Amino acid sequence: MPGIVIVGAQWGDEGKGKVVDLLAENADLVIRFQGGNNAGHTIVRDGVEWKFHLIPSGILYPGKLCAIGNGVVIDPKVLTDELDGLRARSVDLSGLRVSANAHLIMPYHLLLDHAGEARLGKLQIGTTRRGIGPCYADKASRLGIRVQDMLDEKILKKKIAAALEPKRLSLRPFAKSPELDLQSMTEEYVTYGHRLEQYIADTSRITWDTLDRDGTVLFEGAQATMLDIDHGTYPFVTSSNPVAASACIGSGAGPRDIDEIWGLTKAYTTRVGAGPFPTELDGAFGDGLREAGHEYGTTTGRPRRVGWIDLVALRYAARINTLTHLAITKLDVLTGLGTLRVCTSYRGADGASFANFPYHQSVLHQSVGAYEELSGWDEDITQVRTEEDLPAATRDYLAFVADFVGVPIGLIGVGPGRDQIVWTGAGRDSLAGRAVAQV
Ligand code: IMP
Repeated sequence: MPGIVIVGAQWGDEGKGKVVDLLAENADLVIRFQGGNNAGHTIVRDGVEWKFHLIPSGILYPGKLCAIGNGVVIDPKVLTDELDGLRARSVDLSGLRVSANAHLIMPYHLLLDHAGEARLGKLQIGTTRRGIGPCYADKASRLGIRVQDMLDEKILKKKIAAALEPKRLSLRPFAKSPELDLQSMTEEYVTYGHRLEQYIADTSRITWDTLDRDGTVLFEGAQATMLDIDHGTYPFVTSSNPVAASACIGSGAGPRDIDEIWGLTKAYTTRVGAGPFPTELDGAFGDGLREAGHEYGTTTGRPRRVGWIDLVALRYAARINTLTHLAITKLDVLTGLGTLRVCTSYRGADGASFANFPYHQSVLHQSVGAYEELSGWDEDITQVRTEEDLPAATRDYLAFVADFVGVPIGLIGVGPGRDQIVWTGAGRDSLAGRAVAQV
């Protein structure tokens, strides 16, 4: 103990990378528990930029134990490329551990992801096309190929042949594609196996051992609550469970191993891909917010959809994740926007009002935000480091959010830099805050 979980409380891209990076310094283990290289984040350290898709950014602390848990889906090409890139920049990779039970993204998963989206046409989800959905589908169908399979060519070949069999029809347009040749695919993955062998481990046991000797484990989520396959805006979701409960399943920890759960939210809302977004802002104001927040995807470069902060969705996220703390990022982006709106209920097509997040997709699709207006601020807050130094309007905005959602704010992001953070009293008193304060 302690176990600290970091999850996205909105539709992703809340800045989890930066917060995990901050907390990782004093953690004994950082473990990712779901998703794959559909995630991506950029870390700036001493003016140098680093991009990560699979490996926890904690790896930049020499020797730090960083694990890719069993719940993650791994494209071994992406992982080996990421490793080569880090090695070329002389990063110490000795702390990396990759779960032997994690599932592998195979070339046919990428083809199926592309083909599935093309087939859906106008109804498409807007996936990252990294093969995530088809890989999790094979996992659930018990046709998945796991990391450990790469270490035995005979088993690997048999499993790939079995996985390909039911997909023959969908893959027919690619029948002649060299990527689908059984023998060369097997050889390619055996080679990845050799390259990754030194990192393959029982990451559940590593997690238990760290917790049992009172070490701090940081459970790093990817994507976010509203993209959860069970609790998000289905079908416009990812294929894993980004909610906090999944930290256990995707790592091997038990529910009682978790002590704190931090939900990250921007001071406004963004979403990439299709699906309902009740507080979405179109037009020039939205374009301005997108530019101010540099809202373009790290993984796909797609412009993100932007909107006002959605407290209905956030309160739902707080409940489902049993959040102990909120971390609000990108507060500085709201500077100078004039009066700010916060969504406190939804208005349905027939004028009905919804105080709670609607479970029914048709209701949600037709809902738009109903707002309260709060004063904005014009002061530059990027150099502020204490709560007291924040302009009064900023503190009122934060207090409104915390009260409405019913979760204290522990951390406030006021700029992209690692040091552009304000810890609140609640944050400093938390296990996460105390770990950082020990530096
Ligand atoms: P998939 O995860 O590639 O299958 O995409 C499913 C949905 O999740 C799409 O709307 C994606 O845009 C979204 N998504 C996946 N990963 C991320 C992420 O890291 N940030 C934000 N959205 C994501």
